[in-house]
Amino acid sequence: MSKIAQPDTLAGHFALILAALTAGRSHLVGLAQTEQTQGLAACLRALGAEIDCTGHTWQVTGRGIGGLISPAIPLQVSDDATAACLLAGALAPHDVFAVLAGSGHVPPRVLTLAETCGARIEAASPGALPAAMRGARNALPVTCEMPDALGLATALLAGLGARGLSRITGPDVPELVGLLQMLGADVTAEGTTLVLHGQPELHRATISLPHQTRLIIAVDGPAAAGKGTLARRLASHFALPYLDTGLLYRATGRRVLDAGHDPADHGHAAQAATTLTPEDLARGDLRGPEADRAASAVASIPAVRAALLDFQRNFGARHGAVLDGRDIGTHVFPNAPVKLFVTASPEARGQRRHAELLARGAQADLAEVTAEIIARDHADRTRAAAPMQAADDAVTLDTTEMNAEEALAAALAAITGTATSGG
Ligand code: DC
Repeated sequence: MSKIAQPDTLAGHFALILAALTAGRSHLVGLAQTEQTQGLAACLRALGAEIDCTGHTWQVTGRGIGGLISPAIPLQVSDDATAACLLAGALAPHDVFAVLAGSGHVPPRVLTLAETCGARIEAASPGALPAAMRGARNALPVTCEMPDALGLATALLAGLGARGLSRITGPDVPELVGLLQMLGADVTAEGTTLVLHGQPELHRATISLPHQTRLIIAVDGPAAAGKGTLARRLASHFALPYLDTGLLYRATGRRVLDAGHDPADHGHAAQAATTLTPEDLARGDLRGPEADRAASAVASIPAVRAALLDFQRNFGARHGAVLDGRDIGTHVFPNAPVKLFVTASPEARGQRRHAELLARGAQADLAEVTAEIIARDHADRTRAAAPMQAADDAVTLDTTEMNAEEALAAALAAITGTATSGG
């Protein structure tokens, strides 16, 4: 039996096919490595696209609109109905001959769509697989109404390759339209109808599909290395929620101080950690030397770390996330597909923190600030409970000589596997 198209599979498949239709090398971040995705990738390779997958990133060198070639082997879609439909849509406006093989079927609306373009699909019985598909040399634009997201996506792929304006009426699926626009397609909504200009030049891009896999990006490193700025920018780039995990320890330390206790006292610190509220995290007094020291002290207490672990894991598990801290890649999310360890020289970090303090109107001495940072690093690195360290599979970014823009560019290069040197 054919599998029903899940929205996640649909957007992922659609993005992979679009990348194969761009002229140049695109990166897809966050696309799950499922059997179906691997199957579709094999079909697209047979159609001439170059596709590699390294860990969490797919690199796709596309053929450009109209550039797919006749495959020498049948396109095995097995029982993946989403792949069968989308490939039929993408191939309809291509001058190619292909055999779609598998146990699923191509629904009647897709057969009609292909015929509208000028393509032919022949099979033992209408829509059954295997089916022989002859794409159209000069495909005509499509005007159609599709009842569901899969039909809409299929028609969009057909319309992309056809000459002229296609008008496709169907459900509102902003993710599909967003992907098309990201790659440079001209598609606009007129009520419930999408108007698509055929044969655009799709340009290469980094396509982020964070919600497919609930992508976790772990950003660890010592104080004032630029983790927070980088993590925030990565979150915005990949449209992921962001959590500054240091705030949890800062808020815990602050509560212990408020109650008049020593932040190094295990019992009081654990009690504060287990009863943290969102209001505690929103306080305005979580920065500054006293809060820094209290945070580092409570962070060395195993019961505090245990109490804060679930919160961090639940935060990431909901929609994926970028988290910055000290132990995200080693303890909180040891299987995170993206791990960065951000460092900078103690002098550079001292200067950054010093400038931050002055900007906030505080009095600060550079030598003292640098010494505090070095002392806190030492405590964070040498404590027994989840000490700060780079995970074995983390990419280290030394930001001593980088500004925020350069750090983001270096991180994205590391994430998409295009970094030219290790670090
Ligand atoms: O990142 P930050 O400077 O706001 O962190 C404050 C303290 O909290 C720091 O000294 C170490 C500790 N911390 C930790 O142990 N583990 C984390 N995941 C985050 C912070």
